[in-house]
Amino acid sequence: MNLENDQYLIQGIPLLDLVKKYETPLYIYDSSIIKRQIDRLNKAFDVPHLDVHFACKALNNINILKLVNQWGAGLDTVSIQEIWTGLKAGFDPSRIIYTPNCVGVDEIEMALELGVQINIDHIETLEYIGHHHPNTKMCIRINPHVMAGGNENISVGHIDSKFGISIYQMPLVERLVKTLGLKINGLHMHTGSDILDAGVFSFASDILFDVAKKFPDLEFLDFGSGLKVPYKEDDVFTDIEELGVILSKKFNDFCKDYGRKLSLYLEPGKFLVSECGFFLVKTNVIKQTPSTVFAGVDSGMNHLIRPMLYNAYHQIINVSNPGGKPRVYNVVGYICETDTFASNRVVPEIHAGDILCFKNAGAYCFSMSSNYNSRFRPAEVLIHEGTDMLIRKRETIDDLLKNQIEVI
Ligand code: LLP
Repeated sequence: MNLENDQYLIQGIPLLDLVKKYETPLYIYDSSIIKRQIDRLNKAFDVPHLDVHFACKALNNINILKLVNQWGAGLDTVSIQEIWTGLKAGFDPSRIIYTPNCVGVDEIEMALELGVQINIDHIETLEYIGHHHPNTKMCIRINPHVMAGGNENISVGHIDSKFGISIYQMPLVERLVKTLGLKINGLHMHTGSDILDAGVFSFASDILFDVAKKFPDLEFLDFGSGLKVPYKEDDVFTDIEELGVILSKKFNDFCKDYGRKLSLYLEPGKFLVSECGFFLVKTNVIKQTPSTVFAGVDSGMNHLIRPMLYNAYHQIINVSNPGGKPRVYNVVGYICETDTFASNRVVPEIHAGDILCFKNAGAYCFSMSSNYNSRFRPAEVLIHEGTDMLIRKRETIDDLLKNQIEVI
């Protein structure tokens, strides 16, 4: 997004024109940013085979998935529904990794039937597959016992986490592999999201290499994600180019010792799509109380819950008044409980009717939205090759009621 003559533009299209055409609240995605991020990853790593799988939990519109597929990435999925969406988007099953947690064997069976690469983080499930599908190749998700991630909810590789099979249980896993003849073709770890310290990747990768030595038939090692993107100006972020150099060297050294060239898998969500997204809302009211000036907008925690759930920071731009004098606001939603997007935020003066834009609205924003307070979820627009396209209609009252059964 750039500012020219007091107008914010994406791929040359003024945001205010998009608001006129599609109304608010509105999610907008700039496809060129996703492509740029995929290219950056491919350039940063110097290994025989890098395979990027997009963690589609971050943004699951089928059009985004189709573009990601066209641009050569695979898909990281966590549910059968994500697999179905990926297949509908045209991904070959072999390009889809399925990393479930705490799902029942009925769902695992469905995934096996579809032929995707499964990634198991539960010992009993390993045994189940060994007994019922002895020839299936599978990946194991380890828990390396590393504390990493921007906050507690998104730190998933530590000792108290429900994810992964503990590295201390590897002797048991090895016993099962031998006894049941399990075909382990990959090892995986994912320690958290928004990892602030890049050293953590390097440290955790040594643990993965160590475990990998015990499995002679590997085809790939999956390092998960957690790549941190900037949310504020001057924010810390993962230096992907530096990480690429460090991890590539370690990986290539490992492959030499291992005696075979493996593929290096990554499964970024935020890194690929966080910065491509812009969420446009309209200011309904400016409300002054004894302590605070509130800007109340036509959205809330039902559409963008990250600030309320994780205290996440999303930059806010006044699209209608870029040159306005800076003032201090609490930007809040219209929901019937406290839903604060930002406190004490300096924004160019906001008037009722002004259009505000939340940045970094591509990852975990629409995909975590809900119908709380019986509000419609927003429309989504893709800007691709200089053209804006509606890729999800705004909901209507019929959508809200369509699965309700009137029995009274
Ligand atoms: N792989 C696995 C196994 C994951 O669980 C996740 C994210 C990813 C990859 C992608 O991680 P990323 O590159 O996006 O950091 N809703 C939270 C983030 C939850 C992440 C869950 N797992 C947020 O909005 O910050």
